[in-house]
Amino acid sequence: MAINKVKGTYDVLPNESYLWQALEQKIRDILGLYNMKEMRTPIMEYSDVFHRHTELSDMVIKETYNFDDRSERKLTLRPEGTAGIIRSYVENKLYVSQELEKVYYIGPNFRYERPQKGRYRQFYQFGVEAIGTINPALDAEMIILAYDFIKRIGLKGVRVRINSLGDEASRVSYQEALRNYFLPHIDELCDDCKLRLNKNPLRILDCKVDQKHQAIKNAPTPQDFLNIESRIYFKQVLEHLNAAKISYEIAPKLVRGLDYYSHTVFEIEADIEGFGAQNVLGGGGRYQNLVSELGGPDLGGIGFAFGMERLLLALEAENVDFAQEKTLDAFVIVINDELKTTATSILYELRLAGLIADMNFTQKGFKGQLKQALRSNSKYLVILGEDEYQKGLVAIKDTKTEIQEEVLIPKIKKYLLEKLEK
Ligand code: HAM
Repeated sequence: MAINKVKGTYDVLPNESYLWQALEQKIRDILGLYNMKEMRTPIMEYSDVFHRHTELSDMVIKETYNFDDRSERKLTLRPEGTAGIIRSYVENKLYVSQELEKVYYIGPNFRYERPQKGRYRQFYQFGVEAIGTINPALDAEMIILAYDFIKRIGLKGVRVRINSLGDEASRVSYQEALRNYFLPHIDELCDDCKLRLNKNPLRILDCKVDQKHQAIKNAPTPQDFLNIESRIYFKQVLEHLNAAKISYEIAPKLVRGLDYYSHTVFEIEADIEGFGAQNVLGGGGRYQNLVSELGGPDLGGIGFAFGMERLLLALEAENVDFAQEKTLDAFVIVINDELKTTATSILYELRLAGLIADMNFTQKGFKGQLKQALRSNSKYLVILGEDEYQKGLVAIKDTKTEIQEEVLIPKIKKYLLEKLEK
C-alpha cells in the first residue's frame, strides 16, 4: 500500500522547484545588500530553547512537536527560527567579537496547526535577526528591509503594519490594565483565557476561540500605556521610516503571537483580492530579554520572518514573473543504438563546456527521442545519423527557427557555444 505524506506537509515537485530556488536566490542577493550573513542552526533543539517560562504563546505551548530521544532527552522541532538563532549566538559567544550581529536564515519549521491554504505543519521561513543592541535606527532598518524585499521581488498589494508594545515597564502597566479590563468578562471567555488572565493577559487578544468576542474587539491597546521613553523611542523609529519614505500604517491593535516582543512590532500583510485568510506574509519585532533568558548577556535584538509558501502564493496571485525555469541547451538524438557511445562522449564534452545537455536513456526509437527532446524545450537538437557519422558530421537543429546545419563532430561544442553566446 502506498503511504501518503504527513498531514499538513507538501512535496516540492521537479517542475516547481525552480520557483523555490529563485526565491532563495533573491533572498540571498537582497540580504547580502544589507550586509547580512547566513546562519544555519539545527531543526531540532532541546525543548527548553522554546519552552521558556516566559513564552506562553499558544504556538509554543500547543503547537510544537515535542519528543524524547532514545536517551530521554526532551527535544522539540523548531516552530520558528529566532530562539534557535539566539541559542547559537549565546553558545558561540558571538557577542564577544561583534557589537551587532546581522544574520539571516532559511529553513523549515514545524507547527501543529489546522492545515489550510497558506498554513502547513511543515513550512519554510526566511528570517533575519540583528542582535546586540537597541537603537531606533536599527528597528527602522529591519522594517525598511522587509519593505524593500517585498518591492524587489515584485509584490505590490502589500501593507506594512507597525505598532509599539513599549518597554518592560509599559508592558507591565498594559498587562495590568488588560487584567482589570477582562476581569468582568472572564466567565464569557474560554478556559484557556481564564488561565491567561493572571499569567499573561496579552495572549487573550490572540485567542483563536474567543477571537470574535466583543470584549476582545474593544480591549485597550498597548499605545495607551506607553511611558514617555517608549513613546520617544517609537517616534524615532517612525522618523527614520519617514526619512526613507517607506509607506506603512500604524496598527494600534497589533500585538503579535509570540511572547518575546517589546517596543517595535510589525507585520507585512498581503492585500490581494481573493488571496485567502492566511494573508500575513511576514512579521517580527524587537526582543529585549531573549538573549539573557537563553543564558547570554543583557542584549536586545530585532528581527522578522516571512513564510516562503505564502510569498510564493502571493507572487502567483499577483502574476509576478519572477523566475524562469532553465531549459536544455542541447538534446542529443541517435538514429541507432550503435551511436550511443558517441552520444555519451558528445554529451560529456558539452557539459564540460557548461551547457545543459541530455539524451534519452530508455531505449526509445528516433521518433520517441525527438518527442522527448521537443517536450523538454531543448534549444538545439544534436542529431547523430548513420551517413553523417561516416563523414564525421552531426546535424544541429535550432528548435525555434527550425534551421538545421551540418557540423563536424569536434566542432559541436564551439558551434553551440557561439550560437548560445555562452
Ligand atoms: P511568526 O509571525 O510566528 O513569527 O511567523 C512568521 C511568518 O511565518 C508568518 O507571517 C507566516 O507567513 C509564516 N508562518 C507561520 N506559521 C505558518 C504556518 N503554519 N504555515 C505557513 N506559514 C507560516 C516568527 O516566527 C518570529 N520568529 C519572527 C521573528 C523573527 N521575530 C523576531 N525575529
